[in-house]
Amino acid sequence: MQAVILVGGFGTRLRPLTYTTPKPLLPVANVPLLEHIIAALSTADVTEVVLALGFKPEPFLAAFPDGMCAGVSLRYAVEPHPMDTAGAVGFAARYAAINDTFIVVNGDILTDLDVRALVDFHRQQRAVATLHLTPVEDPSQFGVVETNDSGVVQRFLEKPQAHETTSRSVNAGTYVLEPSVLDHIPIDQSLSIERVVFPALVATGSLSAMSTDDYWIDTGRPETYLKANLDLIDGSRSRILASVAAQAHIAGTAVVTHSVVGDGCQIGGGAIISDSVLLPGAVVDSGARVEASIVMGHIGQGATVTDCVIGIDGRVDPRTTHVGEKIPDPATL
Ligand code: GTP
Repeated sequence: MQAVILVGGFGTRLRPLTYTTPKPLLPVANVPLLEHIIAALSTADVTEVVLALGFKPEPFLAAFPDGMCAGVSLRYAVEPHPMDTAGAVGFAARYAAINDTFIVVNGDILTDLDVRALVDFHRQQRAVATLHLTPVEDPSQFGVVETNDSGVVQRFLEKPQAHETTSRSVNAGTYVLEPSVLDHIPIDQSLSIERVVFPALVATGSLSAMSTDDYWIDTGRPETYLKANLDLIDGSRSRILASVAAQAHIAGTAVVTHSVVGDGCQIGGGAIISDSVLLPGAVVDSGARVEASIVMGHIGQGATVTDCVIGIDGRVDPRTTHVGEKIPDPATL
């Protein structure tokens, strides 16, 4: 089976990290997010993944030079201009000449969904498209879905206001599609699958949805990206990954708790790291304190950062204190 993974977005909410690394290539517990996604697809008979690329395609080619990831072969569909989610699916599916049932995944989702079960459900429903749904407490930032008892979608509301629906089931970013979906996607045009294609399918009763309460997280915001990392090292998931990469340098007197430390990181003596992610190459000088933060850059001696996102060019001066900041600040760039 073929799958399309949408990886061409700008990842604005994860700036400044995404200035240098596209969101799907950011590591989650030291494994690229995209590799987690493809490994999960490989368990559902996916043998070829088409990466729907737009913004910064080069790092993807460099990350998988032999065109393989998690045992799955990769193809690269590079859009000439940002085509939005449906435009990207259409471009990638036509590029790879997809002519059978296929899977689409947003490149920022981590889930323990049984993708094979979603495909089986889709086939039973004889649907044109089937969505995976997940329950959330506050659905206002998601695509909210209302289904009937048979799993046929009755309404699809993108980012609704509280009074518009009582449903808490939201589009979880994994789809099974028939090639006939492409009839709804004009060639080479920018179009949203959530705002245009799914509502059009609802109107013909050909959109189905299956809700599960499997582990699911949208890693697209700093706090959820941080959580996705920590969930993989602290037993919140069905598997536990190592929290410290082999090539990290940690002084004997540093204290690292509930944190992920990437390859090539350097942590000086007496530094305290807690509830944080240090991305490959990050430097924390002696006596510094890093709490609930994501760091690519350099934290000076004795500095304290809490709830911060530090990009690759971010330098925190010695003995300064920062709370809730992005450094460098994307708003000023
Ligand atoms: P933000 O800018 O922080 O909202 O992140 P984003 O750019 O990733 O946007 P969003 O999270 O809404 O996108 C959902 C998925 O669609 C992500 O996996 C994106 O990479 C992908 N995506 C969004 N727009 C495009 C596009 O124009 N082309 C392609 N190929 N993928 C896209």
